[in-house]
Amino acid sequence: MADHVTLYEVGPRDGLQNEARPIATPDKIRLVDQLSDCGFSHIEVTSFVSPKWVPQLADAAEVMAGITRRPGVCYAALTPNLQGFEHALAAGADEVAVFASASEGFSQRNINCSVAESLDRFRPVLAQAAEKSIPVRGYVSCVTDCPYDGPVAPGAVADLAAALAAMGCQRISLGDTLGAGTPETIGRMLKAVLERLPADRLAGHYHDTRGLALQNIATSLDLGLRVFDTSVGGLGGCPYAPGAKGNVATETVAAFLQSQGLATGLDPDRLAGAASFARSLRSAP
Ligand code: HMG
Ligand code: MG
Repeated sequence: MADHVTLYEVGPRDGLQNEARPIATPDKIRLVDQLSDCGFSHIEVTSFVSPKWVPQLADAAEVMAGITRRPGVCYAALTPNLQGFEHALAAGADEVAVFASASEGFSQRNINCSVAESLDRFRPVLAQAAEKSIPVRGYVSCVTDCPYDGPVAPGAVADLAAALAAMGCQRISLGDTLGAGTPETIGRMLKAVLERLPADRLAGHYHDTRGLALQNIATSLDLGLRVFDTSVGGLGGCPYAPGAKGNVATETVAAFLQSQGLATGLDPDRLAGAASFARSLRSAP
């Protein structure tokens, strides 16, 4: 049997959060419902963040309430603090994610606090999540480069990833937020993180600004990673990482993996349908 790779679909969240024009709530629900039929085990649906910071996702609770849940699919949401966690729980999120940055500049711009302060905010989220048996994912942003601070030391990424894991995050998703990483810098960063955590606790989250995400995935596969975050139709970017493009497109990664003899369990025809709908939601082609 082919080796299995999990594609963690982040399009409805990471993809749509950066769209300039408002996207109707029913369209977001339709996108998630189409993705639910594709064979994903995880779909990141939305974020319970401040609507002043990310107005596009102000309808998080409505989207969660409107989707048709397919048994076996885990519907996840981002939660930067306890307030977000409580809203996500009320909305029925199956998994939540806290998100920190390996660089101070991005931490301040993205979540308005230092890296150390962000960990203090996450502690009560992790405690509440453990009480309610909700799995928590931990994101580390800017794993090679920061839009404000420049190159990021692999050791800083490893320290933060280890801290999030020690707090109780099941898996740490390593974000090349800018899409500036190369096989060399991603490889160096991963080797530092792998000294602290095993590959099965890690995911690669690569934006595709320079078109290197597939090569970065190939490097990560060589180092043992088997979970990658991808965005259907290549939607997205981060509002606090100017110029960064979306995550590498799910359908592109699925086809690449298949060419390498690696199975994702995704239905290519349904995925193509969801990608085409996702692209129709984008303001610019
Ligand atoms: P703050 O202004 O410092 O928060 O924002 P605060 O605690 O001082 O509260 C200020 C106001 O926000 C209050 O409302 C709170 O109630 C409200 P007011 O009294 O002024 O009316 N508030 C909230 N409202 C709804 N949900 C909440 C919440 N928390 C506070 N959870 C905060 C701090 C973290 C909230 C803000 O900075 C924020 O929401 N940031 C989110 C930014 C974001 O979503 N960025 C994109 C996601 S990260 C990403 O894309 C990277 C990733 O993909 C990986 C990668 O690529 O690297 C994950
Ligand atoms: Mg991202």
